[in-house]
Amino acid sequence: MEVISKVLCILLFSASAFASIAPADKFFIAVDKKDLESHSLRSMNLKGEIDQKVIIEVSQNELNDMSHYMHHEHNKCGGFFAFNSIEQAKEFLNTPIERNLRSLFVDYSINMEETVENAIAQVDAIEIEKSIRHLSSYRNRYYQSQTGVDSAKWIRNKWASLLERRSDANVELYEHASWKQPSVIATIKGKSDDVIVVGGHLDSIAGWFGGNNVHAPGADDNASGISTITEVIRILADTNYVPAKTLKFMGYAAEEVGLKGSNEIAQDFKSRGVNVIGVMQLDMTNFNGSNRDIHFIDDNTNKEQNEFLASLMDSYMRGFTYSYTSCGYACSDHASWHKAGFKASFPFEAAKNDMNGKIHTKNDTIENMGGNADHAAKFAKLALAFVIELDR
Ligand code: BES
Ligand code: ZN
Repeated sequence: MEVISKVLCILLFSASAFASIAPADKFFIAVDKKDLESHSLRSMNLKGEIDQKVIIEVSQNELNDMSHYMHHEHNKCGGFFAFNSIEQAKEFLNTPIERNLRSLFVDYSINMEETVENAIAQVDAIEIEKSIRHLSSYRNRYYQSQTGVDSAKWIRNKWASLLERRSDANVELYEHASWKQPSVIATIKGKSDDVIVVGGHLDSIAGWFGGNNVHAPGADDNASGISTITEVIRILADTNYVPAKTLKFMGYAAEEVGLKGSNEIAQDFKSRGVNVIGVMQLDMTNFNGSNRDIHFIDDNTNKEQNEFLASLMDSYMRGFTYSYTSCGYACSDHASWHKAGFKASFPFEAAKNDMNGKIHTKNDTIENMGGNADHAAKFAKLALAFVIELDR
């Protein structure tokens, strides 16, 4: 017991020490109420109280002062934790400590060379192209239309057929109470109940208001992302990859009408306490609009996990280039996971300014993306590296 609590102390202290959060001028710190009793900061900007812990707002200078004080006065377990927002601080205090530790200390080491290289070598742009062509052949995949439902069922059946020989896998429709179209979730169950998610939206829309009979092929937005995920599943199944953690592949309903499907799922996972350790969003992977290959969206995403993806590119995708770009708003399903407190990343097809101008029109077709899926294939490679390296 002594040993365990000492280890915990070290972990907690290093977590509080590397309060390496994005540069900002105010921070929210969560700290034991009693640790503040002899400190002048106790009269500070109190923002909340949960179970003998308080959240206070501090400036950068006060944060430095606090860190100094904690090390000298309270050289013991507990320390304090700094966050960029009050929501993050509350989320942290409301989460059981064991879960906080597991998601704080995600292992981003890269050590599965052989498995990753073997998997990546099997990515086949022709397979991705076939799926894009099928998915963009529905009149639309609108969240309230029959073809929106039919296309979701096609994805369920396709993923189920790829995984049919696996007794450790299943594919389900995830029904939503307020609209017709279901989301789709494929699970490959590992020994651990830590979960890795790779997802993208399966619906499409055209025009300002959409509609059940509007022609919305959505080849790039987002048949490309779903087809990229489909290729990842195909390869994991074909190589008989047995995960240690639990892998979940998701096609979200109703993204185009306000991230509705992913939001319900992320909130559901959060309230059930599912330990999602990392999420990758694939939305628009096939329009090669910039002079770099992959662009990491840097807002509503997790910085450390984005850097992990960049190092996966350095390790496994030499010859391919990457950069960072911002959406500027909650532009896709990664934001649902981010809001629910999970680490999300969103590798995107182009710099935001160079994105496919044909999305949300009847002209979002594969022909308008060069008639092949060569660009999307790069994202399948990165997603395979992400899944396998995060898993081990
Ligand atoms: N695929 C787009 C998101 C996108 C567009 C990402 C451009 C990066 C660059 C997504 O399907 C979409 O259309 N999102 C909506 C917002 C959503 C909350 C309805 C959008 O961007 O207007
Ligand atoms: Zn869209």
